[in-house]
Amino acid sequence: MGKGLFITGTDTGVGKTFVAGALASLLRIRQFDVGVMKPVETGCPRLDGRLHPQDAIYLKEKAGSDDPLDDICSYALEMAAAPSVAADAAGVAIDLDRIAARFRDLCTRHQLTLVEGAGGILVPLTDTADYTDLVRKLHIPVLVVARASLGTINHTLLTVHWASHLKLPIVGVVVNSPAGSPAPSEQANLHALAKRLQAPLLGCIPYLPEASHDLSLVEKSLDLNRLLALLDLG
Ligand SMILES: Nc1ncnc2c1ncn2[C@@H]1O[C@H](COP(=O)(O)OP(=O)(O)OP(=O)(O)O)[C@@H](O)[C@H]1O
Ligand SMILES: [Mg+2]
Repeated sequence: MGKGLFITGTDTGVGKTFVAGALASLLRIRQFDVGVMKPVETGCPRLDGRLHPQDAIYLKEKAGSDDPLDDICSYALEMAAAPSVAADAAGVAIDLDRIAARFRDLCTRHQLTLVEGAGGILVPLTDTADYTDLVRKLHIPVLVVARASLGTINHTLLTVHWASHLKLPIVGVVVNSPAGSPAPSEQANLHALAKRLQAPLLGCIPYLPEASHDLSLVEKSLDLNRLLALLDLG
């Protein structure tokens, strides 16, 4: 049975898909068999009458996964909103047990399955459940992707503290730069975050212009060996 890693963020657009895709590619290069899941994706464009979960499609490609897209993304929803809201609008009931069953299937096929959330960890999946409930159900550690820009200390510490409060295992934090032009204070800000963080800081990925989402630069910015050791895969 393979292992799992839940990838959450401090917000939407911080680079969860980018980091998960880079991890999948880097692990593939190291001969790991990696599975991926974006169990609920909202804001899916409709093309030729079908909804296209773009994060799920991106992750599938990066992992080189042959798994059916429906196993990777159990719920593709059209409205660009939190999953519970988009599901209500579509008349769909999100079933966490169904997601967990798909996850267990993927774990029988892969050494490590990366599961991407949506937005942050408290984003609602149903009227009563949010992503912390899903993480508990899947029994997997959490990697937090934070953005490097101003505001990140508060967002990151809140995410890590709340997950710790709920006794969810945090494997570490990756600080990512989804936008260019860093503020002059960014470096000092990150230093202040690192001092306060009660979880391993596993990397700081710089802004990589679209044309060159250069994997070797991501690799240099991430402590992949430490992550693997923390996941007992080292
Ligand atoms: N380090 C980086 N350098 C350059 N562009 C980046 C970097 N990280 C992310 N991006 C870009 O920023 C945008 C947002 O990233 P991404 O889609 O990974 O965020 P997300 O957290 O997965 O968002 P969502 O909550 O919608 O799933 C994407 O266009 C992505 O290619
Ligand atoms: Mg994403």
